[in-house]
Formats: sequence, structure tokens, C-alpha cells
Amino acid sequence: AGTEKINTDIITLTRWLTEEQRKHKEATGDFTLLCHALQFSFKSIAYYIRRASLINLSGLAGSSNTTGDDQKKLDVIGNDLFVAAMKSSGMVRVLVSEEVEEAIVFEENPNSRYAVVCDPIDGSSNLDAGVSVGTIFGVFLLAEGSKGSKEDLLHPGTELVAAGFTMYGASAQLVMTMRGGTVNGFTMDNALGEFILTHPNMDMPKKRSIYSTNEGNSKYWAEPVKEWCESMKQAEKPYSARYIGSMVADAYRTLLYGGIFAYPADKKSPKGKLRILYECAPMAMVFENAGGQAVNSHMRRMMEVVPEHIHDRSGIFMGSYDEVQKVIDIHKKHG
Ligand code: AHG
Ligand code: MN
Ligand code: MN
Ligand code: MN
Repeated sequence: AGTEKINTDIITLTRWLTEEQRKHKEATGDFTLLCHALQFSFKSIAYYIRRASLINLSGLAGSSNTTGDDQKKLDVIGNDLFVAAMKSSGMVRVLVSEEVEEAIVFEENPNSRYAVVCDPIDGSSNLDAGVSVGTIFGVFLLAEGSKGSKEDLLHPGTELVAAGFTMYGASAQLVMTMRGGTVNGFTMDNALGEFILTHPNMDMPKKRSIYSTNEGNSKYWAEPVKEWCESMKQAEKPYSARYIGSMVADAYRTLLYGGIFAYPADKKSPKGKLRILYECAPMAMVFENAGGQAVNSHMRRMMEVVPEHIHDRSGIFMGSYDEVQKVIDIHKKHG
């Protein structure tokens, strides 16, 4: 066989960001610098995640967060790594993290215009089992003269300028998108210490018979949700069930293979479980820009849902366009 063609024109995330910036004449370069800080936070979180069991970083921190989750040691470490990277970037005015009750305003960065929302470690209940977890992030541009108060953050996903996630799986996979842009996937090459563009312009399948939801909650589900789930199980060719219990891992599979991910609001959690600002909205933006769709439990476009407070929750159905449409149509039938 001929010599395998070696790719010598490697597109690292750093190069990709430079090329993106060049497309915007008026760009100041601030967003690029912010993305370099985001990139470093993913690299450093990945490093500690992969060593957790070796350096006694698994298990509980002995504390809980605002939304009542027991915090794992890695939840706290991941949060601290992320906060340090955002603060030292000089680009972030205010940061919302799942692990911190109040919005963190960086007085050191009085003139920076970006607000960042993040879930430092998503799926942390799975950490000790070695299951893939991830970091979810979203970036807002603050209005002129904003002081970065938490009210400045109660915006719908349509106002996100960028969003994405990094899944710490067999390799670290970064998926990110900009408002009105495409979805691009980067794979960490540990030897180079660089994220490499491996999945340009991700376009998800319009349909796929895979559903991903915690059916252990089904006794609490509303009737239309029960009907939706049953319709897939009774289909001519029944759907496959795939549920990892880490939103980032379930989302990454759904993005690549197609299908639908759902965490419905139900009688037990009337507002749903997943948090709007740093789980539902960033994921919705990725799925919409990849050709899919995302709605809440009232079948409203997830990107238009405005959180009432920074840790506000919502039900969510997201995935292949036609698969989410099925949920919407069943809810319409129920009126
Ligand atoms: P986090 O670990 O950031 O608190 O998020 C956990 C979320 C999400 O990752 C996942 O989809 C969901 O919790 C799983 O919830 P259940 O265990 O109730 O299915
Ligand atoms: Mn949590
Ligand atoms: Mn989460
Ligand atoms: Mn989390």
C-alpha cells in the first residue's frame, strides 16, 4: 500500500480561532483571548479528571451547591480551575457557575464586556464510575455600561454569542458554535497538547431511532410525554434506548448519531432538573446550529426561554429535527 497521506496542514483550535477572527474586520481580538482561556480550562480540567483516582481526587467534597447537588471534589476543583482561567483572562466581567450560588463579578476586569456561564463538571455523579463527564459553557456580550450584575445574565439563549462543551471521554472532545454559525468539533491531541479540528461543520442526522431519557422518572411524567415514549417503544422498528446520565456524553452521541435526548419536567420536578443558563441554553444553541432543535416542556423553543434566576431550571427535549418534532406534534394533539 502507498504511504498513508500524513496531514501536515493541521488546524489547531488556536489557528482556527485566528482564522475566525480574521473574518470579522472589526474584531478586537478579545473573544479570541477569551477562547484561549476557555481552551486552557478544558485542558486543565481534563488533566485532573484523568488523574482523579490516582491522587485521591475522587469522591465527595462534603459540601453541596445551590441547586442541592452533593459536590464532588472534582466539581470544586473544576470550578476553581475555570474561575481562575476566566478571571486571569482579563476578558470576563461576570461568571455564573453551577457550583457558586452568586454570580462572580470580577472587579479586576471593570471594562471587559463578556459574561460567561458554565457547568464546570457535568455528569459528576458518574465520575467515580469512570463514565465520561464534561464542561458546558456559554458566552454573552454584556450591554454597554453593564456592571455585570446577575440581572444582566437573565437572557435567553438567542443572545449567546458562543456556546459549547468539552466531553472528557476516550479523548477530550470540544464542540463549539457561535451565534448564527456552524458547529465545529475538536479532538485533544495529548502529544501536541492541542485541540485539533476533527469535525468541521457538524450537521446532525434529521432523524434516528435512538432515545435518551431516564425512564425511571416515567411514573411522574405528563401524559403526552408517556405517549411519546411508548410510541417509540411500540414502533414497527422499536427505538434503541441509550442513557449515560451525563448530559454532555448523551448530547455528544446524539449530535453525532442523531436521536433525541430528553429530561422532561415532571410531577417530581415541575421546573425540570437541568439548569437553563449553563446546561439547556448552550446545548440548545449547539443543536440548533447543527440542524436539530430544542424545546422546553411547554414545547417552547429552548433558545427563547428567559431564566427567572441564574440557577433556574427547565425541562428539555433536544436532538434530531424530526425526532423533536414528534414530541411537539404529540403535545399539540393533547392541546
Ligand atoms: P451535573 O452533574 O452538572 O449536576 O448534571 C447532572 C445532570 C446531567 O448531566 C444529566 O443529564 C442528569 O443530571 C442526569 O440526571 P438523572 O441522574 O436524574 O437521570
Ligand atoms: Mn451538579
Ligand atoms: Mn450538569
Ligand atoms: Mn455540574
